[in-house]
Amino acid sequence: MTIRATLAWARQQIEPADAKYLLQELLGVSAAWLIAHDDEPLTSEMEQTYRQLVGQAADDVPIPYLLGRCWFFGRQFSVSPAVLIPRPETEELVQLGLEALKGKRQQQVIDVGTGSGIIAITLALETAGQEHTILATDISAEALMIAKKNSVDLQADLTFAQSDLLKEQAGPFDLIIANLPYIGETEKNVMGASVLKHEPHLALFSQNNGFAHIETLLQQAKKRLSSQGTILLEIGYAQGEEGLALCQQAFPAAKCECITDLAGHDRILRISAE
Ligand SMILES: C[S@@+](CC[C@H](N)C(=O)[O-])C[C@H]1O[C@@H](n2cnc3c(N)ncnc32)[C@H](O)[C@@H]1O
Repeated sequence: MTIRATLAWARQQIEPADAKYLLQELLGVSAAWLIAHDDEPLTSEMEQTYRQLVGQAADDVPIPYLLGRCWFFGRQFSVSPAVLIPRPETEELVQLGLEALKGKRQQQVIDVGTGSGIIAITLALETAGQEHTILATDISAEALMIAKKNSVDLQADLTFAQSDLLKEQAGPFDLIIANLPYIGETEKNVMGASVLKHEPHLALFSQNNGFAHIETLLQQAKKRLSSQGTILLEIGYAQGEEGLALCQQAFPAAKCECITDLAGHDRILRISAE
């Protein structure tokens, strides 16, 4: 079958954009190439592989899990069902991390709940030469394996440790950055099937309306944040007010802010010790 006919079939099974992206990635070609060559046939092997993947995508398996990779901050990262698929909003968290490190050298940085390692690895690569010490932690050994693989593939200089939040980490840290699980159990019924069925619940859900991990981390951070340190935490789109109150309780002398994302939603809590 030609590329055009195969795509026409796939578009009836899954979202047209997903059908095109999946084929593009499988062939390792650009969108423009696909259009220019759409009257060419696929090899029967390629067609079979593509049809299998489309079938799995139709069963809500996220495309990055099917491909085993996804893009974040302009780089390709490996992913598996042991890690959350990186979200575009998290790039804004990384931007604020870079802002906190701007013009500084030899900072102690920790990314808590690193998952695929996107935050810590991106910070390490974007600040290479500034001699920061970057530690990436997760409670999940499977997630840490993926994060380590990504750091090797992308040649990022950082270390990893299995840890329950900051419990095993003494600090002091100049930057504590984290995208922890923040979805309340009650939100399960409004979540998409693909996320619920395939992404790790350990990476998604937290008790206390989604605040249990953040609350514990803030308490632990009191003794582990350096005197001029920064904490950056990703939160859900409606968690700003409650999140900010928790920050102010834990760090009454610090500047605490809720920063909105490009879509105007609550997205990041920033604590700047002064
Ligand atoms: C929302 S995911 C974020 C992953 C990655 N940082 C990202 O932004 O794509 C949360 C991560 O926190 C980890 N996690 C859950 N509970 C934890 C705990 N008590 N201590 C450390 N990490 C934890 C999960 O395994 C998961 O990798």
